[in-house]
Amino acid sequence: MQKFYVTTPIYYVNARPHLGSLYSTLLADVASRYNKLHNKKVFFLTGTDEHGQKIAQSAAAVGKNPQEFVDSFIPAFKDAWKLYHIDYTKFIRTTDPDHTQAVKAWIKHLIQKGDIYKSHYAGYYCVSCETFVTDKDMPHGITENIPLCPTCGRTTEYVSEESYFFKLSSYQDRLLQFYKDNPDFITPRERMAEVISFVQSGLKDLSISRTTIDWGIPFPGDSKHVTYVWADALNNYITGVGYGVPGKEKEFNSWWPADLQILGKDIVRFHAIFWPAFLMASGLSMPKKLLVHGWIKIGEHKMSKSRGNAVDPIELAATYGVDQVRYYLVRHLAITQDSPFTYSDLEQRINSDLAHDLGNLLNRTIALALKYDRATVECPQTWSAKSVDLYETGKNIIVRFMQEMEAGYMNRAYAVVWEYVHEVNKYFHNQQPWKIAKSEPEKFAEVISATCHALYAIAYLCWPLMPQKMEQLLSDLGKKINTEQDVFAQLLSKPWADTFRVTHGEILFNKIEIKQETQETVMTQEEVKQSPTITIDDFAKIELRVGTIEDVQVLEKSDKLYVFKVNFGAHGVRQILSGIRKYFTPEQILNRQGIFVFNLAPRKMVGLESQGMMLFAKDAQEQLVLIAPEHVVPNGTQLS
Ligand code: MSP
Repeated sequence: MQKFYVTTPIYYVNARPHLGSLYSTLLADVASRYNKLHNKKVFFLTGTDEHGQKIAQSAAAVGKNPQEFVDSFIPAFKDAWKLYHIDYTKFIRTTDPDHTQAVKAWIKHLIQKGDIYKSHYAGYYCVSCETFVTDKDMPHGITENIPLCPTCGRTTEYVSEESYFFKLSSYQDRLLQFYKDNPDFITPRERMAEVISFVQSGLKDLSISRTTIDWGIPFPGDSKHVTYVWADALNNYITGVGYGVPGKEKEFNSWWPADLQILGKDIVRFHAIFWPAFLMASGLSMPKKLLVHGWIKIGEHKMSKSRGNAVDPIELAATYGVDQVRYYLVRHLAITQDSPFTYSDLEQRINSDLAHDLGNLLNRTIALALKYDRATVECPQTWSAKSVDLYETGKNIIVRFMQEMEAGYMNRAYAVVWEYVHEVNKYFHNQQPWKIAKSEPEKFAEVISATCHALYAIAYLCWPLMPQKMEQLLSDLGKKINTEQDVFAQLLSKPWADTFRVTHGEILFNKIEIKQETQETVMTQEEVKQSPTITIDDFAKIELRVGTIEDVQVLEKSDKLYVFKVNFGAHGVRQILSGIRKYFTPEQILNRQGIFVFNLAPRKMVGLESQGMMLFAKDAQEQLVLIAPEHVVPNGTQLS
């Protein structure tokens, strides 16, 4: 049995996952399921990146110790992946004992080999990207003589400290040779060109330890140092399948090298330069392919928690359905470029592609079959030329679909599948089975059978993308998903010879009622009228403070209220009641920062005192949106 090993980046745990984090993970899930359909043995690794300065700072800002802080976010990741049917094999955390032991052993090994040495680092550091900014990055922007991070544009900080270095410079030629020998190492190829030009312009040795923070893997043999977070995190790809774990050598050798590593464009340099160099130094083989995707944007900006424009995948699934969101993200975002996300586009695609093109086709086929007593759909004695054409088109589509999937262009692969969905619709309409059901029963039966065969193939092609919905489609055709064989090889080699027992299940995809331009609110004359103005002194009377919701209880006596315990740092912990149950689950708000009216007179509700009020906004769909600082700030901070 062939194997397939796929990885996602491991996520920083200073915030809950958003649509961008879901995107990397979803692509890996689709790749993993696609390979399962090829009857391969699959290992799918994902997890969380838990050490480093950024996490330590975020934890300190809310007065938690880092371990407690990172632990509090893990359920949010695991729950989101569960909801989206992300079928990972292992969820690795860089605080796992196996991982930390293996990283220490890895460092010791490289010290012995002479690839790591002690010296001094002086230069700039971006905490948000956890990266040392090199001279080459400087021209990207400077404010008050401090360089800006070339990736996120934030101000960097000056660092001068003793450090251990990895001899990256001595791998420069080997890396260039590797890129030359493996031109398809990175998809898309344009990214490879950037990497090559960066390496050609000269590599400096890489600082891989820090003395000014202590939240990291202790550096072996030198207790003053902790391991630099990227030297720790990148190794998850090998430790996750057993590298450096006693007794797991065989397991490791059966999985490594990874067949596909998925990552966003912001972290290419780490994966295409540092990571291969680390592997070369360790005597391990290179991953077969890096698939680099673009960013999901809101307007002009990358979607991110810190920008405050993050879309919550949980809320999206509740409104539109899990498989609908999976479909939209993978099919309609251009994988290798940045793509905007809009609600109206999502709604239109659900309606046109899913409800109209695919859902209706299934519906009409089954409705007709049942109406004319053909619940058991048998094959005809012989197929007409039109049906043979449809069969041949399907084979051609499967071949093209597989080519795009193998190359990593999943969005294009599904565009190919939709060409077929359109072809099948065309066939169905041209044959007009509803007109010939009585006059030409054999031809009618053939059209229904051909359409069922085509839908069966579509269900398998789309299963990696929409597993639940496609299992439902198969069940409507009287079939069950089977991954015990190479499904695509079967579809390509077998003639149409199946019998289907069709039943009417639930509607596969419901249409979304498209509201008046969802993104914009049209205001009436009445609404445009402003409230009376207030003076600055009036405004100063309101004390607004930032707090973290550290406990959420459902108040049984009410159907609306939650009881929060909110931490305001030096200003204490308060009990605040909030009537938002219909908009948020407790998990969605637990551990989140928000803005509170702090000097509102206490008020009793259902026998309990509320000592403040939390602020929200309503979006165009009348959903409440939490208002929070752009990034975590100390609890108790007053808004001014
Ligand atoms: N912890 C590092 C990765 C270490 S891998 C050894 C990290 N974490 S992250 O949480 O900041 O980002 C993880 C992944 O999410 C990256 O691939 C990143 O590109 C992706 N995304 C985060 N925001 C995104 C969008 N708005 N759009 C698409 N993907 C984005 O980097």
